[in-house]
Amino acid sequence: MSLFLIPALLIIIKAPGIDALTPVFVQTGGDVFLNVSEADVPTDLHYFIWKFITNDVLVSFLSSGESKVRRGYAGRIDILENKYSIKLKNLQKADSGIYTAIVTAASEQILTEYNVIVQDPVYPVDLIIDSVSSTSSSCNLTLTCSTEDSNISSTFTCTGKTCHQEGGEKSKVTKSGSSLHVSLSHLSIICNHSNQVSWLQKKTAADHRCLQYTGKSEIYKKIIDTEPCKRILTLYSLLHFVKLQPQTSLHRL
Ligand SMILES: *[C@@H]1O[C@H](CO)[C@@H](O)[C@H](O)[C@H]1NC(C)=O
Ligand SMILES: *[C@@H]1O[C@H](CO)[C@@H](O)[C@H](O)[C@H]1NC(C)=O
Ligand SMILES: *[C@@H]1O[C@H](CO)[C@@H](O)[C@H](O)[C@H]1NC(C)=O
Ligand SMILES: *[C@@H]1O[C@H](CO)[C@@H](O)[C@H](O)[C@H]1NC(C)=O
Repeated sequence: MSLFLIPALLIIIKAPGIDALTPVFVQTGGDVFLNVSEADVPTDLHYFIWKFITNDVLVSFLSSGESKVRRGYAGRIDILENKYSIKLKNLQKADSGIYTAIVTAASEQILTEYNVIVQDPVYPVDLIIDSVSSTSSSCNLTLTCSTEDSNISSTFTCTGKTCHQEGGEKSKVTKSGSSLHVSLSHLSIICNHSNQVSWLQKKTAADHRCLQYTGKSEIYKKIIDTEPCKRILTLYSLLHFVKLQPQTSLHRL
């Protein structure tokens, strides 16, 4: 009988405290360390194996210290200096799952488990302004942030020199499990597409039709606060403003 078949026939005693498995996220093509603390390994060890899911043995160690990597994993496993710990390389999606370190001594027991999740990096995003509507006092911007399999639409309102998110969605989980998140930072609208291993973002300035307005109101505040040139500057800027935006009513000023 092959050494690899024996563990399946034995009753496995689970070490306490390993039910709450924290996932370890790895990007496709990346590596993962499967660590064992040498102090946890019984001294009367007969053999030690790393298994994937329930029956796929990656590597086995004999009490003599001799190790054997299964053919299917040849070239993908580095045995680390810290005995029994391994580095599994070039992970693909199919490598996602539970990895278990099993030791046989007086009895068989699971020493440790890792829940490895392999993810592709996220797709790029596109952030497009769908519409802009402005009046003399405010400006509404509707944007769509889209990626390969999902999109999210948000509306921002800019009043004076500030903008805020008015409506639509702020975040969304895509079909592939990544997240789209739209936010505002210093008059820039940012769409961030992320998962546990990567993120990509696209940024856009609030449309110039909005910025033109918000920029101007900022200048006006400064001008109005300035003494003693207040009147002259106000008159100058008033004329300038009227020239650029003839539709704007003057009573605001
Ligand atoms: C294993 O140990 C290495 C350091 O030796 C550490 O960088 C790595 O994060 C550990 N792996 C896990 C899955 O905890
Ligand atoms: C902006 O949107 C708000 C809320 O939908 C609306 O009340 C307002 O009239 C809109 N303003 C412009 C300039 O379209
Ligand atoms: C956004 O997603 C919906 C389906 O959820 C689709 O009908 C629509 O065409 C998408 N829009 C863009 C701009 O990708
Ligand atoms: C995008 O989202 C990820 C995950 O939440 C985060 O780590 C990253 O810092 C964000 N990037 C930006 C520019 O906000």
